Amino acid sequence: QHFKLAVIPGDGIGKEVINEGIRVLEFLSTQSNSKFTFETDYFPWGCEYYLENGKMMADDGLEKIEDHDAIYFGAVGFPGVPDHISLWGLRIAICQNFDQWANIRPVEFLPGVKSKLNHPEKEKLNWVLIRENTEGEYSGIGGRNFTGRGARKEVAVQSSLFTEEGCERVIRYAFETALKRDRKKVTSVTKSNAQQYGMVLWDEVFARVSKEYPDVETDQWLVDAMAANFVLRPEELEVVVASNLLADILSDLGSALAGSLGIAASANLNPDRRFPSMFEAVHGSAPDIAGEGIANPIGAIGSAALMLEHLGLKEEAVLVNQAIKDATQSGFLTADIGGNTSTKEMTDSILQQLSNI
Ligand code: NAI
Ligand code: MG
Repeated sequence: QHFKLAVIPGDGIGKEVINEGIRVLEFLSTQSNSKFTFETDYFPWGCEYYLENGKMMADDGLEKIEDHDAIYFGAVGFPGVPDHISLWGLRIAICQNFDQWANIRPVEFLPGVKSKLNHPEKEKLNWVLIRENTEGEYSGIGGRNFTGRGARKEVAVQSSLFTEEGCERVIRYAFETALKRDRKKVTSVTKSNAQQYGMVLWDEVFARVSKEYPDVETDQWLVDAMAANFVLRPEELEVVVASNLLADILSDLGSALAGSLGIAASANLNPDRRFPSMFEAVHGSAPDIAGEGIANPIGAIGSAALMLEHLGLKEEAVLVNQAIKDATQSGFLTADIGGNTSTKEMTDSILQQLSNI
């Protein structure tokens, strides 16, 4: 198998961690028993590109990456460019235009990681968060206007979009994911007591779809109570499905529980496979530590594993995840997870474990 990857390192630590993921892919592809080879096309889009060109990516950017087998993405955002411009100009543009409606974010405790959470069950922490990724609160519908006397009192409208089709496909994806796991359970999270239109529609679709999966246990929570549950009863979660904004927030919370934002991987999937899917760590560009060589590459490397799985290389994906665990277990930990291993050394230790397996 030969793959063509579009690589968008982006800004800040995005550039640093993407290199590490590529190193892991290179290592795997050059093993004597390797089942794949790959080539990369790099696209220098992001905030520096914006400051020079007034846009986050080339005008024909989407066409340039459309024919690739997958997109490997670092992170965007850097001081000097407003965050809503950098996010909408690149990451959200790709997710929405390539209909990457399922954002998969596994949360798993890694052995040896010094988590700030002292939960007795933290070793059991192993769930997958599924985020609706093309509509909801990130529909982009709304606008700003001046109103009132003196035109000084501003009003902004930010609308959420919930379509029956959009809710149904991501909820169904959550049930299909649950079927593949040992414990078959799906938890739906909304705020349908306060958001009485879109999220009530979501709840109704959830109830309807759940009837088709009698073997899957279900429960439904409001997001405020679920935030507490994440901390107090993480062992009760298995597959969690939620809207774009709610799942975005919960996934940072989940990865912090597991140890750090730096270890969380994600896949932005176009399950219909009409367009390429995009793989990226959950974290952002972390300007506070960029350039120091201390960023944790595990989130980006785990995302490369999700990419391998998506490309049909499940065994290789399992190996990478195992090597990550072996590395943290043997005490290789970046600063965010309680050690002083550098970005490069962290990858070195993962490659070392890979060659031992
Ligand atoms: P962030 O995720 O970049 O950083 C939050 C905190 O976690 C920081 O203290 C950072 O040092 C730490 N951290 C994050 N990743 C780490 C890693 N791999 N290793 C060690 N420590 C890590 O979120 P923040 O600070 O809210 O946003 C910074 C910029 O990133 C903003 O411009 C924001 O818009 C952008 N952003 C971009 C995303 C994307 O491209 N998908 C996602 C989230 C934020
Ligand atoms: Mg986020």
